[in-house]
Amino acid sequence: MIVKFVLNGDDVTLNTDADTRLIDILRNSFGLVGAKNGCLSGSCGACFVLFNGKAASSCIIPAFRLRGSEIITIEGFIQYNEYQDIASGFAQARVEFCGFCDTGRVFVTEALLEKKPRPSREEILDAFSGIKCRCTEPESLVSGVLAAAEFRQRRLYGRGA
Ligand code: FES
Ligand code: FES
Repeated sequence: MIVKFVLNGDDVTLNTDADTRLIDILRNSFGLVGAKNGCLSGSCGACFVLFNGKAASSCIIPAFRLRGSEIITIEGFIQYNEYQDIASGFAQARVEFCGFCDTGRVFVTEALLEKKPRPSREEILDAFSGIKCRCTEPESLVSGVLAAAEFRQRRLYGRGA
């Protein structure tokens, strides 16, 4: 089947099987390898993308759902100021990662800050409950997100959170 969608701001057209997973399309057809192969069943967060503005697992999105959609991968998102808020926040909180679930961490943080510009500790832990991160303590994630929220508030409104 032919699918047309927007990928990182560009109109793209692809000839593919209807059930090909988005993660395979990204990696094999576009060379975008930021979304990682983890569980491949929608439960670890290693393959997250923004799908029509929402954080979603690219391993469970089949090609036929892509028609007319807008996909932003981590490679596209790093161009945005929103990414810089998140990167700066986690850097300031001195959170260290192995990088395996970077996409999940970044897109979960983005989705949360979109909904809750000043999230509570509980809201952060809840938002991250679908991410299986084996190398980072939950409290480090909380510190990183709180710092990211502060960077965003400062960028948007010129003041701290
Ligand atoms: S690889 Fe997609 S959620 Fe785990
Ligand atoms: S960054 Fe999540 S497992 Fe390392």
